Amino acid sequence: MNAMTSTPFRCTVTPNTGGRTDAERDAVLADPGFGRHFTDHMFLAEWTPETGWADARVVPYGPLSLDPATAVLHYAQEIFEGLKAYRHADDSVWCFRPEDNAERMQRSAHRLALPELPTDWFTGSIEALVAADAAWVPSGEETSLYLRPFMFASEAFLGVRPSQHVTYSVIASPAGAYFPGGLKPVDIWLSEEYSRAGAGGTGAAKCGGNYASSLLPQQEATRNGCQQVAFLDSVEHRWVEELGGMNLYFVQADGSIVTPELSGSILEGITRSSIITLAADLGHDVVERRVSIDEWRDGVADGTITEVFACGTAAVVTPVGRLKWDGGEAVSADGDAGKVTHEIRSALVDIQYGRAEDRHGWMTRVA
Ligand code: PLP
Ligand code: COI
Repeated sequence: MNAMTSTPFRCTVTPNTGGRTDAERDAVLADPGFGRHFTDHMFLAEWTPETGWADARVVPYGPLSLDPATAVLHYAQEIFEGLKAYRHADDSVWCFRPEDNAERMQRSAHRLALPELPTDWFTGSIEALVAADAAWVPSGEETSLYLRPFMFASEAFLGVRPSQHVTYSVIASPAGAYFPGGLKPVDIWLSEEYSRAGAGGTGAAKCGGNYASSLLPQQEATRNGCQQVAFLDSVEHRWVEELGGMNLYFVQADGSIVTPELSGSILEGITRSSIITLAADLGHDVVERRVSIDEWRDGVADGTITEVFACGTAAVVTPVGRLKWDGGEAVSADGDAGKVTHEIRSALVDIQYGRAEDRHGWMTRVA
């Protein structure tokens, strides 16, 4: 669909005069949790074929009013992103690889027949919102401001065709650990009945529909005492793809590190891609290839696989404790994260929090 025909990014700001007091904000920042609290402002812009992207604005955070016929409510023409702003020791605020999120959102937009948002609009929207809500970026250990850009079909009509009115928004949420246990290993449920995505489908796009279809298997995971669900490919039900909201890594006994190759139905995670680079910097061989579910099960049992971890913006690097399925389990960590998982997590978060040199030029100052 119509790509980059918008005017240069310029944004108005309407301050929220009824926002939270300093004391109310401090109470939230002291224990933010994940995705429970939102800042005082939001970003909005709209697209039509006639105007391209227009009317960039930061406004007080508040509800959107939607006609009941709004296309997204019926056909789920929607995409989103997730990235974080980190406060450094000198109080400056930085984002990690925001252009990569912009480009992934453009690929998602293409797949969902939505208009692509130019990269300068994406980064401009992030900078404008973080500038307005800079006081909401927490400074506690391993906390951040989680940013959620999203785009949806906002035309009111019932025919099935791409919407001719599209809304782009960014909201922000102060965040602590995604998993309440912190670095404690999480247990994963193997979904044997459901797949997350199929060949030719939307698995490589970050669209809401993928997450809707993961909720039933995620409920199954929760019922079985697991925090996340692992999906296999939809054809052979044999090849490991990813978790509901994270990519996967397997550490081998020889120190090499394997991650499932991008099959077209896996989300191309920015954390996944950063770990490929960082693990190589640390001297590990990194291999992207197919990993079968038998290799995972047998590998942790016979010691060929020494550590398993999940990664993503929300999850950062999280050790996997057990893989469970109907009738069995395979334990890869009991009690604590493995050495390589720790090493890779530190290499990543030290860059994100400004404690290590940004050798790959991944950080962008936003406030
Ligand atoms: N896979 C899925 C399905 C996700 O939702 C996410 C989270 O964004 C990831 C992988 C990891 O991607 P990233 O590292 O870009 O956050
Ligand atoms: C993210 O990591 O940003 C995601 O979108 C995944 C979701 C589980 C919060």
